[in-house]
Parts: sequence; C-alpha cells; structure tokens
Amino acid sequence: MANTVVVGAQWGDEAKGKVVDFLGRNADVIVRYNGGNNAGHTVVVDGQTFKFHLVPCGMLWPQTLNIIGDGEVIDPPVLAKELDTLAGYGISSDRLKISLNAHIIMPYHQTFDRLEEERKGEKAIGTTSRGIGPAYADKASRVGIRVADFIDPVRLRTRIAENLAFKNEVLTKVYGAPAFDEQAMFDEYSAYADKIRPLAANTNLITHQAYKQGKEILFEGAQGTLLDLDYGTYPFVTSSHPIAGGACLGTGVGPKQLDRIIGIAKAYTTRVGAGVFPTELLDATGDFIREAGHEYGTTTGRARRCGWLDAVVLRYSAMVNGLTDFAVTLLDVLTGLETVKVCRAYMCDGVETETLPADWEAVKQCVPIYDELPGWSEDITGVRKYEDFPANVKAYVSHIEKLTGVEVKILSVGPDRMATIVRE
Ligand code: GDP
Ligand code: IMO
Ligand code: MG
Repeated sequence: MANTVVVGAQWGDEAKGKVVDFLGRNADVIVRYNGGNNAGHTVVVDGQTFKFHLVPCGMLWPQTLNIIGDGEVIDPPVLAKELDTLAGYGISSDRLKISLNAHIIMPYHQTFDRLEEERKGEKAIGTTSRGIGPAYADKASRVGIRVADFIDPVRLRTRIAENLAFKNEVLTKVYGAPAFDEQAMFDEYSAYADKIRPLAANTNLITHQAYKQGKEILFEGAQGTLLDLDYGTYPFVTSSHPIAGGACLGTGVGPKQLDRIIGIAKAYTTRVGAGVFPTELLDATGDFIREAGHEYGTTTGRARRCGWLDAVVLRYSAMVNGLTDFAVTLLDVLTGLETVKVCRAYMCDGVETETLPADWEAVKQCVPIYDELPGWSEDITGVRKYEDFPANVKAYVSHIEKLTGVEVKILSVGPDRMATIVRE
C-alpha cells in the first residue's frame, strides 16, 4: 500500500493534474493539500479536457473520495462554478468533502492582491491576482475566515464585520480605493455558504480513518517546489507550501504515513510570473517549446516563460521533497530539436556548483553549464512501453537520472490519460 504525494518539482504546471488522474485509478482517497484557484490542473480523457482549480483531479474516478484539504484557500464563487461544471459532466459532489479548517478567499483579498501588485510596479510578483497571498496572510495573522466560520451565519456575519472594520480603512485611506459593503458581502457569500455547508467535514479525521483501514491515499500538490513560500525563489513564490512537507501541513497526516513522493518534472522548464530562471530561453528555441507545448497558462492564459531542463533545480527538488522518483512529462514537446540541453551545474562567481546557492540573489548571477545531447525526430506520442522509445529519448531520460540520482518511473508523451508510460 503506497500513500503517494504528487509534487511539482519545478515552478508549477508540470502536469501534476495528469499524473494525479493517472494514479487515481488505484486510489481510494485523493486530497489536495495547498494553494487555491491560482492552480490550473488539466486532465484529458478520451479527447475531453477537464480543468480543475480547487477540486482534486481524482473526481473523475468514481471509486474515489476527494478532499479539499486544510491547507487550501477556497474562493466560493469559483468552487460553485467548478462544481456546476463537474455536475454538467454527470460528476456529483457527493464524493467531495471540504475541510472545516480550509480558509476562504474573500473579495477584499483579490482587491488587495491587485492593489499590491500595482503598487509594486516593476517589482510586481506577477501573481495570478486570485487573492491567494492576502488570504494566506490573513490566515497567518489569525484574522482569516475558515470554512467552519463561513458556514455558520452568525460567525460569518461577525468575521466579515471585524475584517471590514479594518480593511475598509486601509482600502480607502491608504490605497484610495472604494470600501466594501458589509451587508451586500454577507448576503452574497451566505448563498455560497449554503452550497459549501453540506460538503464541509472533519477531513483530517476522514483521512486518518482511511489510512487506518489501509486505503490508498493520493496527495495532490499545487504549484511547484520553487514556488514554495519557504523553499522557493522568494519573494517570487506563492504563499503556501507546495513541497511534500506541505502534504502533512495541509491534510493533517504525519510524515511517516507518506510512502512515495513523486516529483513531477517537465522534460524542460517553464515559469509564469517574475523571478529568477537560470535556463530561460529568450530565443527561437524558447518560442519553439512554447508553441509545441502550448505553454499558455491554464488559469490566466499568460504565455509561460520556457527554457531547458535544469538538473540543479531538480536536485534541489529531490532534496527538499525527499523524492522517491520522478515523472517526466511533455517529453513529446522536445521532438524535432536537433539537440537538447540539460543544465548540469551553475558557474557562480567563477566556481562550478551542482547545488543551488541558498541566496536567490546569488542565483541571478549564476550561468548555467549545459550538457548537450542528440535530439530525436520520431513521433513518440504513440509510445506506450519504455522499450519502444527511440535510443536518444532513453539516453535523455538516463541522463536526467544520472544528474539527479533519482529514478524516472513515469513518462508522459501527450495530454491524454493513456499517453503515459510506467517503467517497471
Ligand atoms: P499542472 O498545473 O501541473 O496540473 O499542469 P497544467 O495542467 O497547468 O499544464 C500542463 C499542460 O500540459 C496541460 O495543458 C496538459 O494537458 C498538458 N500535458 C500534460 N502532459 C502532457 C504531455 O506529456 N505532453 C503534452 N504535449 N502535453 C501534456
Ligand atoms: P499549478 O498548480 C504556475 C505563480 C504565479 C506567480 C506566483 C505567485 O497550476 O502548477 P499567486 O497568485 O500564487 O500569489 O502567484 O506563483 N503561480 C503558478 N505558476 N502554476 C501554478 O499552479 C501557479 N500558481 C501560482 O504565476 O508567479
Ligand atoms: Mg497548472
């Protein structure tokens, strides 16, 4: 019985959704442990595309119970829409539970997110403007609204009043922005509370009981290791914990209950928003990858920055997550390139280093040192067995293993659930 964490090993959008769906066939419980609707997780089954933002990607498997974990932040209108969309596909919310501890994103969080980005100007983080940072900031400041408060009309009323008493002052006096109306917010959000109430539950107890019964639990991370609040490229990070440790924080399970930590890595690297990106390609090869990989955001539609695979980043990911193995995705996107490069080390201040400098300002000064491997031109989207890959693809995969010391156990060669290869 392997309880598995699916964690992004880069800067997000590594195809975690696809891998969660793929592994979901054997899971009993699937729990998302961090982030909010800054996430966009895509699953393609039989040509039909599903985009998940808050709800775990496991919903497509009828045998699974799905949980929005303690570590998530929930935007009620977005959740309501996501549930309606799923209902349209005949997928009922009966199999969804929402943690009473999860926090609610309120309209003022989105406003503060936008105002802060505007205030920062050139130094903006490039957030998804979904109110994620301000919602987690309120959680840490102990003024957040949890699901348990949200579904109790008296508590909701009080929490809104307490928050607006201060936030309206800041909005009007610091930012010169309009104030929010307490009654209107309460009326609108009470309607969402009615939808959430039947799904709210003590989800860490449910997860614990499932564990005790020997059920298989899949932990779905959002974002990626390099976007982690503590371990990412601060301050150009998100405000939650995408790393594997976040699976404990965001669901209430203990570290010893996690068996497999699978790092999802694209066969190259992408990043959305600002911040250091040593292997970024600002040339025709970068454009080639962006177009071949349709590298435009699932959530915001922004063009993703593209670059070569960075083994220094992957080594770091292996370290801070305790990765047991990798899933390498979007391998097909590199098809047609004469050669493919992998960054094996950085040259920092004249010194070659295989580990990431702890200070991100220092990383900005580092220059990637590449290994160049022969590319492949064969169409690999139909490959379903590892043996059937062209030799150069296998050499590329072996090189990743050699540089990181972590085995690649899953490979993905297309968006569809079926376009997945498991190595025994
Ligand atoms: P996530 O946020 O980590 O779940 O990833 P996203 O869904 O934001 O982005 C991954 C994108 O790549 C989605 O559009 C997927 O449908 C697509 N995708 C997933 N795996 C593959 C693959 O192996 N090859 C190709 N070409 N596309 C893939
Ligand atoms: P999934 O789960 C890629 C990035 C934003 C920005 C930074 C902070 O689909 O992999 P935030 O709105 O979280 O305060 O923005 O984090 N970001 C993501 N990038 N994939 C994501 O999610 C992301 N979620 C946030 O672009 O740079
Ligand atoms: Mg995504």
